[in-house]
Amino acid sequence: MENKIDDEKIKIEDVRPDKNLNILTGDRPTGKMHIGHFFGSLKSRIELQDKFQTFIEVADVQALTDNFNNPEKVKQSVSQIIMDELAVGLDPNKVTFFIQSQIPEIAELTIFYSNLVTIARLERNPTVKTEIAQKKDIFGESVTYGFLGYPVSQAADITCFDATYVPVGEDQLPLIEQCREIVRKFNSIYGETLREPVAVMSENIRIKGLDGNVKMGKSLGNALYLSDDLNTIKEKIMSAVTDPGRIKKDDKGNPDICMVYYYHNLFTDKAECKNICEECKAGKRGCVACKKQLIESVNKTLEPIRDKRKYYENNPKEVMDILMEGSKKARVTAKKTLEKVKKSMKLDY
Ligand code: TRP
Repeated sequence: MENKIDDEKIKIEDVRPDKNLNILTGDRPTGKMHIGHFFGSLKSRIELQDKFQTFIEVADVQALTDNFNNPEKVKQSVSQIIMDELAVGLDPNKVTFFIQSQIPEIAELTIFYSNLVTIARLERNPTVKTEIAQKKDIFGESVTYGFLGYPVSQAADITCFDATYVPVGEDQLPLIEQCREIVRKFNSIYGETLREPVAVMSENIRIKGLDGNVKMGKSLGNALYLSDDLNTIKEKIMSAVTDPGRIKKDDKGNPDICMVYYYHNLFTDKAECKNICEECKAGKRGCVACKKQLIESVNKTLEPIRDKRKYYENNPKEVMDILMEGSKKARVTAKKTLEKVKKSMKLDY
């Protein structure tokens, strides 16, 4: 069976490996990665790196669209993000890591595509709409041209690398849809040139925060970072929210409303989780012991990641070399795309 590429999205378990096809995905460098990123995107990237030609972009230019007043944060986060990716097992021999600002072809494409999308369409993009509402502190009543246009720049990221698949979370679907529209418009005006990308959806896991918030995030102060040391993990888990109705150790608990049990399900093996659930319901397990057990499980997963990350923290030059080599390699592909695009647009002097 051939890979289906007519649909707008496909589930990760339905993609068939093909080393001739490209994958592109990326992150805005605005901080370190937490376990929400790990379960939400990094795990699927690890799976995909063996199946396709994988490009991973550190989207520093995009990060500046809502952090233009904080370039230092963006700059510092570039290496943090890459160290997280390397630490979880993404392999620079399989993945081309690159920095968006090192690929000027993306900026050129963005300008070309900006004629193919209306302001009204950008304003209707649900992801952009939500973000603008959340970022009133940055934009006030009037959003910048750059931020409103970031879906155009993201379409450039994707098409620049001739990506067939784009592994993303649910929140990014409107951006893939907008990219597909731009591609169709481009092809209909200038002739068949660009490929319409398909979103690859992993099992939709959005990890809740330790405080029970539906979202884990840096600004929410409820995140467990891949780089957290054992003491930090201990502190965070000891203060996690449990069933508030349980006061004494032998009170019968409700694991369904307990964040510690929720996290056990992510980090502790299934049989043991069943046991934990039953003991809690029967009032045979104290929350403190349960938290201590969770600390051990979490640390078992995070320790090797942390150790590998330490290696890269101690070898910053190696990290930059990976990014620079990757950017050089990525540019070869980007230049080929630009050549095709300029030819179609009669800009080939
Ligand atoms: N917008 C994405 C995010 O906020 C990051 C990103 C930039 C991206 N360029 C991309 C994702 C290209 C997929 C493909 O997470």
